[in-house]
Amino acid sequence: MKIVVIGGTGLIGSKLVNKLREHGHEAVAAAPNTGVNTLTGEGLAEVLKGASVVVDVSNSPSWDDAAVLKFFETSTRNLLAYEAAAEVGHHVALSVVGTDRLSESGYFRAKIAQEKLITESSIAYTIVHATQFFEFLKGLADVSIVDGKVHLPPVLFQPMAANDVACGVLKIAVGPPVNGIVEIGGPEQLRLDELVRRRLASLNDPREVIADPNALYSGAKISERTLLPGNNARLGHMTFETWLAQSAATTHAA
Ligand SMILES: NC(=O)c1ccc[n+]([C@@H]2O[C@H](COP(=O)([O-])OP(=O)(O)OC[C@H]3O[C@@H](n4cnc5c(N)ncnc54)[C@H](OP(=O)(O)O)[C@@H]3O)[C@@H](O)[C@H]2O)c1
Repeated sequence: MKIVVIGGTGLIGSKLVNKLREHGHEAVAAAPNTGVNTLTGEGLAEVLKGASVVVDVSNSPSWDDAAVLKFFETSTRNLLAYEAAAEVGHHVALSVVGTDRLSESGYFRAKIAQEKLITESSIAYTIVHATQFFEFLKGLADVSIVDGKVHLPPVLFQPMAANDVACGVLKIAVGPPVNGIVEIGGPEQLRLDELVRRRLASLNDPREVIADPNALYSGAKISERTLLPGNNARLGHMTFETWLAQSAATTHAA
C-alpha cells in the first residue's frame, strides 16, 4: 500500500516511515525538504498519485497564535483538496488528547480548526489523539517560563514515548477509517510538574520547576484531568523510567 506521510521527516514522521517500510508498505516521507509543501501545494499532486492513505504528522514551524492557525488551516485545506483529486481513501491526522478542552490556547484553537476541516471533508478519516510525548518535556519547560522559573500546574497526565506514538499511528494507518477520534496514551498517570522536573534533572538543566495551580498549559487554564485520555485509549508500553534510561544510553553512546 502506498502511504504518504506528511511531516515524514519530523520526530513522529521519521519513525512512522521506517516502521511502515518494515511492514512492507511503500511509505513516502513528504516535507519541504523532500519537495512537498502543504502550505503552497508544491509537490502534492505528484506525491499523492496512487496513494491509498495519507498520514498528516506535520507541525507548524512557528507556534505564534496567528501563524499556527494559518499553518493548520491552509495546509489541511490544501491537503484535503489534493487528496480528493487523487482519490485517497483514508486521511489520518495526529492531534492531541484533550484538544477540544483547550480552546483557550492559540495552538489548540489551530488543532481544533484542523480537525473541523477533516471532519467536514468528503474523505474518510481517523483523527489520532495522542498524549504528550516524553521527548516534548523539555520543550514544555521552555514554553512555561515565568521570571526565569518553569511554572506548571501539578495536574495528572499520561505521556508516552514517540516510538509508541508511531506504533499507534501505524496500526490506524493500515486499518480501516474510523471517521472519528482514537485516543492513544502512555502506560502511567504522572504529575506534569514532577515529570518535567525529573526530565530537566536528567539533562542537568538547573531551571527550577514550580508547582503552580494557576499556571497555564500552552496558554490554557487546565484542571486535574484535562490532559488525561478516556478509558478506551490504546496504551503504549514504554514507561518514563525505561525511556529515560534508553535516552541516557543513546546520549552516552553518541
Ligand atoms: N508534542 C507533543 O507532545 C504532541 C502530543 C500529541 C500530538 N502532537 C502532534 O504531533 C504532530 C507531529 O509532531 P512532531 O513533534 O513529530 O513534529 P516535528 O518533529 O516538529 O515535525 C514536523 C514535520 O512537519 C513538517 N512540515 C513543516 N512545515 C511543512 C509544510 N509546509 N509542508 C509539509 N510538511 C511540513 C516538517 O518538515 P521540515 O522539518 O522539513 O520543516 C517536519 O517533517 C503535531 O501535529 C502535534 O500537534 C504532539
